[in-house]
Amino acid sequence: MARYDFLIIGSGIAGLSYAVKLARHFENNRPVSIAVITKVQADETNTKYAQGGIAAVWAESDSFEKHIADTIDAGDGINNQKIVDMVVREAPERIQELIDYGTRFDREPDGEYDLAREGGHSDHRILHFKDITGAEIERALLEEAGRHPNIQIFSHYYAVELITQHHLGETVYRYRTDIQCFGAYVLNRETGEVEKFLANTTLLATGGIGSIYQSTTNPTIATGDGIAMAYRAKGICDNMEFIQFHPTSYFLPGQKPSFLISEAVRGFGGILKHADGTTFMGKYDERESLAPRDITARAIDSEMKKRGVDHVYLDVRHLDYEKFLDHFPNINQYCLDHGVDVRTDMIPVVPAQHFMCGGIRVNEFGQTNIRQLYAVGECACTGLHGANRLASNSLLEAVVFGHRAYLATVDNYDQVTIPENIPDWDDSGTTHPEEQVLVTEMTRELNSVMSNYVGIVRTYRRLKRAYDRVELLYREHEKLYRESKVSVPICELRNMINVSYLVIKMAMARRENVGLHFNQDNVK
Ligand code: FAD
Ligand code: SIN
Repeated sequence: MARYDFLIIGSGIAGLSYAVKLARHFENNRPVSIAVITKVQADETNTKYAQGGIAAVWAESDSFEKHIADTIDAGDGINNQKIVDMVVREAPERIQELIDYGTRFDREPDGEYDLAREGGHSDHRILHFKDITGAEIERALLEEAGRHPNIQIFSHYYAVELITQHHLGETVYRYRTDIQCFGAYVLNRETGEVEKFLANTTLLATGGIGSIYQSTTNPTIATGDGIAMAYRAKGICDNMEFIQFHPTSYFLPGQKPSFLISEAVRGFGGILKHADGTTFMGKYDERESLAPRDITARAIDSEMKKRGVDHVYLDVRHLDYEKFLDHFPNINQYCLDHGVDVRTDMIPVVPAQHFMCGGIRVNEFGQTNIRQLYAVGECACTGLHGANRLASNSLLEAVVFGHRAYLATVDNYDQVTIPENIPDWDDSGTTHPEEQVLVTEMTRELNSVMSNYVGIVRTYRRLKRAYDRVELLYREHEKLYRESKVSVPICELRNMINVSYLVIKMAMARRENVGLHFNQDNVK
């Protein structure tokens, strides 16, 4: 058993920015213990793969009002306006902190930051480092975390379940107002033992859910663990039907994750086209290739269906190659490695799952409905994104809420009582499953159901079919889970099934078409 002041599950931008804030605060103050657990190596996160950058009002021509309006326009108006206002206004200060930790962003020759533009943005406001902004932020945050001895990072530790009164034998139902989190049961992947990590405050920063789909830009760690754990602990989740499909992942069937062709490429002048060179975005939105993602992904989906093709193209041949290379060296190299010279060839692209706009319901300080449990980053639903996230607002949301969760926890973390009698993990009666193939096949089936029936365009019939299939998978898998010793693949599949169920349930309940949720049977 281990006992910490702060337990942070996840080492992406959300978890690390919170950890660093705490560590800096207490450095000359009093000794506190901050544990960060991460299921593989610390830098393997969605954060590391972020390309385009992080949005903030920085240019003189820009204004908070414009960034707020763009965020709400992209979100189709159902954003929490108070949260949008708050995030946009706090953005420059939080980004300055990233810079202070050592994050580099590209500059113009005159020393000013080189601000890019992406879909749905009415001005240039994306700070970026080449086309590998996320890797740069992750590097800087990990280095900063490493400078603080009160942060301990546990790599290859997998959180299995949150600990609440349920583990003391009490009945815990969803709208009970005094549910409290006491930490988590965590699998030490090296020893195979499930350890008890008790903590005054627990923060979920577990990222996205991309692995429930066949094709996603997310790395394989994105299995929705935090959302599923919180839901099982009777946390409340919102907006799970709003799954963002990025319009332009590199078309390479079977590739998982799909490689992203950043939206910044369209911001730089790239144009969506068919193989014969005809453009089509003008039919769907006056912003053409720079329309927000929901509109663009749906337009591509519709064009592919009409033409009976499995991808479209992004044309950058008319752009200044030297400048393109300077901005997008990683994308250029990926294309070259796959036989595409962007000077002469168009880039084959197709939409792929990219981001979860919903998640665990939190307030403006990242607090969930469970006491002492916070959620920040992609696993949380703050209301910022509404029905569709504006490009480059996700990294921003994570740093703003990392800071706010820090503000909320820093003064009261020690006024918490953890019961003495929390039991150890009980795996009596379980064995190591003999056939891993069951898990592999169930995952494949889940991916197929989600991609075929709960994709960009939905119908009630497809959703019902998905619901029935997932329910069956749930029953089969629960039996397997109860009989098996805990393993990461089994737990991840359990979480993916839980999350898929929430996506389908909320998609079935949504009676109007808004943002990313498009059901052909709905009137609007
Ligand atoms: P992550 O960075 O995904 O970190 C999750 C962490 O949780 C990992 O450390 C993981 O190991 C850990 N974890 C998960 N489950 C468990 C468990 N059970 N036990 C222990 N640890 C666990 N957004 C932008 O704003 N701008 C961009 O340019 C941009 N580009 C993107 C490009 C790509 C290819 C992708 C995939 C996403 C992009 N996004 C972008 C979205 C953005 O990167 C993510 O939303 C954001 O990084 C999420 O950060 P996070 O800290 O919430 O989660
Ligand atoms: C991209 O670079 O297109 C991704 C940006 C984002 O997801 O916000």
